Amino acid sequence: MSRLFQLPLLACAAVLFSCRTSDRLVTAAPEYFPTSVEGLEAAVPPSTLEVKDGDTVYLTASPVRKVLQGREVRMLAYNRSIPGPTLRVAQGAHITLRLRNALGIPTTLHPHGLRLRNGFDGTPDVQKAIQDGDTYDYILDFPDPGAFWYHPHVREDYGQAMGLYGNFIVTPVARNYWRPVDREMPLMLEDVLMDSAGIAPFRRDGADHAMMGRFGNLYLANGDTALSIRVKRKEVIRLYLTNACSARVLNLGLYYQYPDGELLNRNLRLVGADMGRFERDQVSIAELLGPGERLVAEAYFDEAGTYFLCHTKEKAGEAQVHVPLAAFEVLPDSVDTPYGDAFQSMDTAASPLAGIDSFRTEFARPPDKRLELDVWMDHSVMQKSSAADHLDPNDMGIEWDEHPTMGLANANSTAENTRWIIRDAETGAENHDIHWTFKRGDHVRIRIYNKAESMHPMPHPIHFHGQRFLVISRNGVPNPQLAWKDTYLVGRGETAELLLDAANPGEWMVHCHIGEHMESMMMFSYRVE
Ligand code: C2O
Ligand code: CU
Repeated sequence: MSRLFQLPLLACAAVLFSCRTSDRLVTAAPEYFPTSVEGLEAAVPPSTLEVKDGDTVYLTASPVRKVLQGREVRMLAYNRSIPGPTLRVAQGAHITLRLRNALGIPTTLHPHGLRLRNGFDGTPDVQKAIQDGDTYDYILDFPDPGAFWYHPHVREDYGQAMGLYGNFIVTPVARNYWRPVDREMPLMLEDVLMDSAGIAPFRRDGADHAMMGRFGNLYLANGDTALSIRVKRKEVIRLYLTNACSARVLNLGLYYQYPDGELLNRNLRLVGADMGRFERDQVSIAELLGPGERLVAEAYFDEAGTYFLCHTKEKAGEAQVHVPLAAFEVLPDSVDTPYGDAFQSMDTAASPLAGIDSFRTEFARPPDKRLELDVWMDHSVMQKSSAADHLDPNDMGIEWDEHPTMGLANANSTAENTRWIIRDAETGAENHDIHWTFKRGDHVRIRIYNKAESMHPMPHPIHFHGQRFLVISRNGVPNPQLAWKDTYLVGRGETAELLLDAANPGEWMVHCHIGEHMESMMMFSYRVE
């Protein structure tokens, strides 16, 4: 793209910025984080680092300039790439991650899903934020195989959305834990909200879009708006999929494109979730992935041509909309490995490698703890969503896009007029007033009810730090797809039964992974002694 084309865009950004400044003088409009690209280094392509037990990895978080759809925008990056480097680590390894903060604002790094030592979890409970210019050593443990990730735990509604995220891919100790494949590939997925000047700016004083979260209008796969991967025919690729969106639930499927453009849905083999493998593999044509959740899925490319990984919006009464996130260009030449043939055959026996069997006797136990998900809204933003009056219990209530009539209310909502609530249904305590203490080794049965009758019922991805849990059932139906999880998307009106394996001592957070909900208080901490 030519330099000439970019100049007017920069000029545009400058005009918008000065408007905002003068607005502030008159009406005390909020201050925003900077959007200028001046003096910033260009982003570099993401890399993969093989990290050995005992190694030290050096990451620097800093602003970069990056071209999105022909526009140069300011983003935030680890080691100048979006996503940050993929760290491939063996299960059981211990490494040091030295983070240097050059962001201009305080930050921390949260290793999402790792059952690590409490002091290195990057939350305000256990760590003072790293000031600009400072460095901090995180000692990380990797007891579980699978796809994990890192992101800041200070204003993640801003930092993560601006590009601060990367994967840990933890390779299993057990041989045959995963089936053999031709290739493995992490795909970190996010959406950014663009306006006419670039990425729509973020308020310094706290998150806006507090009601539904910030929905993007541009999708990135590994930081790329048009990611294209060359594949040989008959390749099987194991995809490690991470939803790094602030608010958007992804509905992921693989599609083959006919020469006339028509898309044909192909199977994905779902082999793992957040923290390791499913007890049973499953074949699926589309799978929901909430913010913070991961999915390990194998894809088989048996025909030459183009395949897409798509996010499919399914609005009731409307045609599906497929959003291509990544393209796979399959060459006529085929690989000579036999993995494609094995792809067709399904193991239906539960695998002991998932490590779930010994917990099954506790599934029927009544809950020890009951939580409710709710919201309080000020009159200035209160608009009961019309859908709430006639809820379909089979509908998770996914908002596929910014709500058509509530967009403005959402954009203007903040923690001052919108407070998301996790409530202990036994004591009535809410958010930071909840104080749970468990003994190390406790298995805690937790029921979560996502109130259908709240002012704005919607799904919430609930994340427990530092431990792992099983989703035993949803709305009374036993979960046929058991796997260890750290984040679970609780649908609108849903009752979910969890079993938390409280094995890791410390002070740990629970929160909704929608960045804006977290900024509007949807969190509490619990202690394992
Ligand atoms: Cu990925 Cu507390 O978050
Ligand atoms: Cu939420």
